[in-house]
Amino acid sequence: MRDKLNEIKDRALLQIAGAEGLEALNEVRNTILGKKGELTAILKGMKDVSPEDRPKVGKWVNETREAIESCLSTQLKKLESEALKARYSAEKIDVTMPAKMQPKGRLNPVTLVRNQLIDIFGSMGFEVYEGTEIETDYYNFTALNTPDDHPARDMQDTFYLSPEFLLRTQTSAGQVHAMEAGKPPIKIISPGKVFRSDDDATHSPMFSQMEGLVVDKGITLCDLKGMLDKFCKEIFGQEVKTRLRPSYFPFTEPSVEVDVSCFQCGGSGCKLCKGTGWIEVLGAGVVNTKVLEGCGIDTNEYSGFAFGIGMERIAMLKYGINNIKLLFESDLRVLDQLEE
Ligand code: DAH
Repeated sequence: MRDKLNEIKDRALLQIAGAEGLEALNEVRNTILGKKGELTAILKGMKDVSPEDRPKVGKWVNETREAIESCLSTQLKKLESEALKARYSAEKIDVTMPAKMQPKGRLNPVTLVRNQLIDIFGSMGFEVYEGTEIETDYYNFTALNTPDDHPARDMQDTFYLSPEFLLRTQTSAGQVHAMEAGKPPIKIISPGKVFRSDDDATHSPMFSQMEGLVVDKGITLCDLKGMLDKFCKEIFGQEVKTRLRPSYFPFTEPSVEVDVSCFQCGGSGCKLCKGTGWIEVLGAGVVNTKVLEGCGIDTNEYSGFAFGIGMERIAMLKYGINNIKLLFESDLRVLDQLEE
């Protein structure tokens, strides 16, 4: 028996030492110590050993098992540490590699301008009043002193949806809603999309305007001039000057066009200002009494001023963009060049 046990042990130790992986090692363990293993069979046969030999044989069997188990556990540790080392080297991370760049989105220049305008006018006490993109002919034209046969209708190539409904051509339509919705004092800005059948390098069928309207007691053209002067300095730089030129809009009387001194050349004349030293930025005026009266406002008590700003135009001027289409493409190569 002793020889048999020694033979099993020697063979087992040899197999264990030769096992090249965890699976092979497990296989060796099963063939010797598993349910149907060789040593297990001997242990099971202990009942047939004579009682006087049993302690002696039991001791040999146990010694054999312990020797095999200790060898198994040493080999297991060795194989596990080898496997871990192999994993470490296979999964090695090179922390000096350059990081993968995630392309970063940016706000569109028109959104930047819109946010800036809301900040500037908000700080002057203006509230935001959102109008609607689909309007009736009445709010877009008639209530703004532009009746059916008025020649000023030709200035705006309108997309009609039906004889009554249209895509608003100007945020001015919101003025009338604001005056109908609340009593003076009114001090609102109304940013939003407008639509005209017009398409070239500086015009697009869809663009954005921001309307402004103030109605209160004693409002004059002077208030408009002072407020616009402050606005232009905020948006184009403290050094710019403003000037008003007479113009015509049916809903304002008098009407003006507002120019700023060229912020690129300082007024001496350059490509941006077409050599004139001035850049046209918006239309404005004193609200026509006909418009106020149409909204039920007593013109003996109240007066107002209004202005309309083309936001793409401001964005193009500010960021030196020469084609309006670039503003709608959201091309990161363009957006990445803009300084916020
Ligand atoms: N609605 C005008 C346009 O689209 C812009 C404008 C001019 C708005 C004068 C005004 C204003 O409120 O007073 O051309």
